Amino acid sequence: MKTSFLGLVLIPATLAVAPIPSYQHAKQNTRYVPNAYIVELSDGAISRRSSPHATVLDTISNSGIPFQTVSTYNTPEIFVGASIRLPSPADAARLAKIPGVVAVRPVIKIEGPKPIDLSVVKEAPIAHPDTYGPHVMTGVDKVHATGNFGQGIKIGIIDTGVDYKHPLLGGGIGPGFKFVGGYDFVGDAYESGLSPPMPDDDPLDECNGHGSHVAGIIGANPGNDFGFSGVAFNASLAAYRVFGCSGTTGDDIILAALIRAYNEKRDIITLSLGEPSGWTESTASVVASRIAAEGRVVTIAAGNDGEYGPWYTSSPGAGIGVISVGSVDNVVSMFQNLTVHGAVHDPITYLLPFPLNATSEYPIYVTSTDISKTDDACDSLPDNTPDLSPFVVVIHRGTCTFSQKLANIADKGGKLALIYNSDDGAFSTIDVGTFPAALISADDGKFLVQQFLTNPNLTLSFPQTGASVSITNPVGGLVSYFSTIGPTFDMYLSPEVAAPGGNILSTWPLKLGGFAIASGTSMATPFVAGAAALVLRDLGKTAKVALEMQRILQTTSVSLASSHTDGSPVRTVAQQGSGLIQVDRAINGETIVSPSQIALNDTAHFKATHTISITNSGSAKKVYELRHISAETLDTIDESGSVDPFPPFVPGAATVSLSATKLTIGPGSTKHVVATFKPPSMANATLPLYSGYIQVSSAIENFQIPYLGVVGSLKVGAILDRSANFFGLPLPVVLDSYGDPQEGPQNYTFLDYDAPFLLLRLLFGTAQFQIDLVDKNFEVPSKGKAKTIGSLVELDYIPRDSDDPFSGYTALSFSGNFANGTRIDDGQYRALLRVLKVAGDRKKEEEYEAWLSPQFGVVTPS
Ligand SMILES: *[C@@H]1O[C@H](CO)[C@@H](O)[C@H](O)[C@H]1NC(C)=O
Ligand SMILES: *[C@@H]1O[C@H](CO)[C@@H](O)[C@H](O)[C@H]1NC(C)=O
Ligand SMILES: *[C@@H]1O[C@H](CO)[C@@H](O)[C@H](O)[C@H]1NC(C)=O
Ligand SMILES: *[C@@H]1O[C@H](CO)[C@@H](O)[C@H](O)[C@H]1NC(C)=O
Ligand SMILES: *[C@@H]1O[C@H](CO)[C@@H](O)[C@H](O)[C@H]1NC(C)=O
Ligand SMILES: *[C@@H]1O[C@H](CO)[C@@H](O)[C@H](O)[C@H]1NC(C)=O
Ligand SMILES: *[C@@H]1O[C@H](CO)[C@@H](O)[C@H](O)[C@H]1NC(C)=O
Ligand SMILES: *[C@@H]1O[C@H](CO)[C@@H](O)[C@H](O)[C@H]1NC(C)=O
Repeated sequence: MKTSFLGLVLIPATLAVAPIPSYQHAKQNTRYVPNAYIVELSDGAISRRSSPHATVLDTISNSGIPFQTVSTYNTPEIFVGASIRLPSPADAARLAKIPGVVAVRPVIKIEGPKPIDLSVVKEAPIAHPDTYGPHVMTGVDKVHATGNFGQGIKIGIIDTGVDYKHPLLGGGIGPGFKFVGGYDFVGDAYESGLSPPMPDDDPLDECNGHGSHVAGIIGANPGNDFGFSGVAFNASLAAYRVFGCSGTTGDDIILAALIRAYNEKRDIITLSLGEPSGWTESTASVVASRIAAEGRVVTIAAGNDGEYGPWYTSSPGAGIGVISVGSVDNVVSMFQNLTVHGAVHDPITYLLPFPLNATSEYPIYVTSTDISKTDDACDSLPDNTPDLSPFVVVIHRGTCTFSQKLANIADKGGKLALIYNSDDGAFSTIDVGTFPAALISADDGKFLVQQFLTNPNLTLSFPQTGASVSITNPVGGLVSYFSTIGPTFDMYLSPEVAAPGGNILSTWPLKLGGFAIASGTSMATPFVAGAAALVLRDLGKTAKVALEMQRILQTTSVSLASSHTDGSPVRTVAQQGSGLIQVDRAINGETIVSPSQIALNDTAHFKATHTISITNSGSAKKVYELRHISAETLDTIDESGSVDPFPPFVPGAATVSLSATKLTIGPGSTKHVVATFKPPSMANATLPLYSGYIQVSSAIENFQIPYLGVVGSLKVGAILDRSANFFGLPLPVVLDSYGDPQEGPQNYTFLDYDAPFLLLRLLFGTAQFQIDLVDKNFEVPSKGKAKTIGSLVELDYIPRDSDDPFSGYTALSFSGNFANGTRIDDGQYRALLRVLKVAGDRKKEEEYEAWLSPQFGVVTPS
């Protein structure tokens, strides 16, 4: 998943604006795999012919469009079409016009999944008591106690492959093993757009690791020294490998894997991957939705982009009917103590779950004796630095990445390091790669610096056993800061549920160390897949139960507060969905509460009344009480008109009146309660997201229905950034062949680099993005249709840009051709950019935002 590392990537304060990207860099930053398209064909186009595959190929061949087929999809209820390569976008536009072709969409790049932080664990520590935190948080321990381990349920894992040789993952593949099968769609070297897929039957992954971590969360055998196990360790697993050792994949590969897992009859399909989107309509989202609608459970990560603010839902997790999963931090963290020699001082706790691999007593060396220096070891160390190999090197946190600091000490021979926290840094795991290094507190760091100056006798040692400290994670049980915040632009809830994903121990390829602790919604997602297996095992492996899974898990979840401070508000539904799943309650519930969730939409499409139905499926009469709990309201748009990455809480909540707050229901009977919602009145916030829960409880059970809405019309969300805030020059901007902003008319030959390119930022997503060629004297009409010459670019369902200085923009180059490939006649023109407002009507010109480029000439070189 696309990740952001809190506190790791610090932008130097002097860099006020983002660097203007070069043409080459901007080109690489596109969301799409060059020349790659997914063609969808209508069912009608198939049924008339005998062989659907032949039809796909025939239809395209007969058009005379040069193409190369990469793979075909042929599962009528899910998807019929092909992944193809075309020489130019123009061919895609022509192809789209062929009868029977439903859509031609560019293949979207999906970034390789990366955990938020990762520590590789090479040696088994002392055994912990078998009360594995994530299982206790979610009632999985209670379900395991009943002998339900998901046996008989088949789960397909679409990820980086798996090291099935790992003893905890069964030690092999094929009938009789935990991993019963799978497929490798890509091979080790694959990277979308750069290196072609080399498929084979073996999904073994010994170079990436992510998929093995995911697999262990579902399926790791118990009885290991670490005291952990998978949620459904007796389920049968299959690995569908869609990523190479590193790099991106394309959504055409994800599509192929989804369809294969469906055809191989996996009851549950889980995907810990995705790309920021905000829309429910991407190809992979739609296909995942169709699979869910056929009665399979599909769990997909919500994304790790919490720090980019709301409206950033990831695709394919955004698909309607799939279960998108947010992350909750593990309650307990395992730390270690080191021993101080040569001074009287308590052991120092360092932030690693397992001891550093260091077995002697080491003197210390500090890279700066100035404890206020925050860019400590960010530059190469001075020439007079001694050989650091005998020392534990002590470094201050700050300014540059940990790996940069560690690389600098490694240059001087450093082999072991402690990084001391800054006064305001979070005391949570840090990314040090494979370097043996760990975080210690600011106070302990200052102590060591002072000792370095005064006490040559001080040494440190790292006990390999007996020094584990189990510390209650101060943010354990809360929504992880990195968990992506929804909802979608069409106001669907995403995530649907949350599960443990912060600070999770699991299996890792043997060749890469065997075990690792990682964080991400990637870790929360397989947890829910495993939970669904336990539910299917108990309630029956039927399409009916699968179709109900979202409701079963959502209505039995517990909502989480925004902090552990007493009286703190409930965290927004936009980040936790229904809250933390409770698997025992999901299985044992004797009440059916529906709907599963209530999407109130924006005020313009607001529906005030919703009927809640309550069925007592138990054998005795029950008295139910209903009440409304509001969650925090977020002011999503800041004064500059951008989505606020850290939206402030604003006072105000919906009011909900219930037609009954107490009712008695006999066994087997159903009663209805009408909930009437009134959005909060919030004059001075822009698009505030409000949310909460309707709770339904009997003496012995608790259920809840999450709801979410936004005050105002989504149409007020400005889409085009016209400020100079980001690059220091007003946007959108046309850059000429030298990369300079074009001012005044300019001519281009469109040969080599002599072409303009457009740089812009989308503050909000858009369902339709189009650029047309217009006359140089064109003026944007205040009313009625704009008169254009021809289409240059047309794209749909585009996410908003983040505020990331290196990737938070959209760039497009012009070819001198129309979208259909026809060369533009020599002449003087402008480009008209139009983006449809969210919730806007495609047919109404006034529901688009428009921008007109400076004048440019298309000239034939003489
Ligand atoms: C579950 O798997 C374990 C091996 O990890 C095996 O010993 C046990 O018999 C299985 N239990 C069931 C109920 O399938
Ligand atoms: C670890 O260090 C802390 C702080 O010095 C101390 O309170 C604790 O008892 C130590 N625990 C172990 C197991 O050494
Ligand atoms: C621990 O460090 C020693 C010496 O540097 C090395 O030989 C050994 O392989 C390491 N062990 C592990 C499990 O990494
Ligand atoms: C270091 O150890 C030596 C020998 O034990 C001792 O004489 C000296 O006082 C110690 N220095 C400090 C600063 O404790
Ligand atoms: C919200 O309203 C828009 C506009 O009618 C609609 O397209 C969308 O599907 C609605 N969202 C939900 C969750 O119903
Ligand atoms: C909104 O305006 C009211 C009245 O002017 C003020 O009391 C309140 O603090 C404002 N709220 C926000 C979030 O600015
Ligand atoms: C662009 O080309 C046209 C036609 O060749 C010419 O008349 C005009 O002066 C040129 N403009 C610029 C800015 O070079
Ligand atoms: C391509 O589009 C342009 C502008 O709309 C149009 O003039 C031209 O005829 C089209 N070419 C083909 C081959 O359809």
